[in-house]
Amino acid sequence: METKLLKANEESIKLACDLLKSGEVVAVPTETVYGLAGDATSSSAIKKIFEAKGRPADNPLIVHIGNIEMLDGIVSEFNNDAKKLADAFWPGPLTIIMPRGEKICKETSAGLDSVGVRMPSNEIARKIINLSGVAFSAPSANLSGKPSPTTAEDVFADMNGRIPLIIDGGESDAGVESTVISVLENTPIILRPGIVTKEEIEKVLNKEVKVAKEVTEGVKADSIVRSPGMKYKHYAPNAKVTIVKSSLEKFVEFVNLNKKENTLVMCFEGEEKLMPVSALSYGKKDDPKSQAHNLFAVLRELDKNHAEQVFVRCPDTTGISLAVYNRLIRSAGFNIIEF
Ligand code: TXA
Ligand code: MG
Repeated sequence: METKLLKANEESIKLACDLLKSGEVVAVPTETVYGLAGDATSSSAIKKIFEAKGRPADNPLIVHIGNIEMLDGIVSEFNNDAKKLADAFWPGPLTIIMPRGEKICKETSAGLDSVGVRMPSNEIARKIINLSGVAFSAPSANLSGKPSPTTAEDVFADMNGRIPLIIDGGESDAGVESTVISVLENTPIILRPGIVTKEEIEKVLNKEVKVAKEVTEGVKADSIVRSPGMKYKHYAPNAKVTIVKSSLEKFVEFVNLNKKENTLVMCFEGEEKLMPVSALSYGKKDDPKSQAHNLFAVLRELDKNHAEQVFVRCPDTTGISLAVYNRLIRSAGFNIIEF
């Protein structure tokens, strides 16, 4: 299959709408990462998404809507917590898990009774949904296991030959995927951290919110978890990645002791010169938004540099940093050292 890579404009957006309406899969920009979109109500379209990504069939997809009326039939209940969250954070990078509506095909929700929904704030994504009238399911547009794509070129590297069209809308803003929160129970629970933080959510709901333990811990492949996506190795470059929790001085000492020929370091901006091997910065130490924005691009850069061993400076674990930490420990296969 030939894969077209087109800049977002009236013509390419119309083509994307036509493809979606005819049950095809299209890669589209969102404010978080690029998504692989297909009609959420069509089993055959969703099967194509799973096939293009090589994604395990038990991992459900997020449904993207363009306006609040679209929720009708997509969810069977829109409870008070969900309403408050939608009011506060939509359009934007928050996915709310709600009871599944009758329109959603079983492949989208991987057979679960629930469905994750979000309204993206990216103008191009919104336009495609509203012009086509298609609420689309979209996972991140990477091959399963690889870092999520934050540029159309990254999508092309993974999806060339697998899908008919990629819409280029420039670099993704946030750089990490949406926060996923379930409001199915009385105490809402964050299943995946993102740019919308636990603290912001608690303020809006005016009650305590839990964070699933899988967010900061490894999960065995055969275990049952609330968010199936969390049990798979994820975001992984080819290199062996190790996260090193230590001071800057100790980190440099650790790299000196353990460096080999193709060792690379992922550090914070300004620290590169201090490192005894080649170093890539993934953002400013005290600016987790910049880390989130750069993280996946830097993980992909490691492969382009043929890194075999990578040592990473450990980010914080609160606020937006939790999203960065959650992705990093997965890219490292939970390989974390305190030094
Ligand atoms: O920012 C995003 O959310 C991006 C863009 C494209 O919108 N999409 C994305 O989709 O990250 P994906 O498929 O890569 O990740 C979806 C995550 C997975 O961890 C999945 O297990 C979880 O959401 N999820 C989806 N539906 C769920 C459900 N009904 N219950 C629990 N977890 C669910
Ligand atoms: Mg993904």
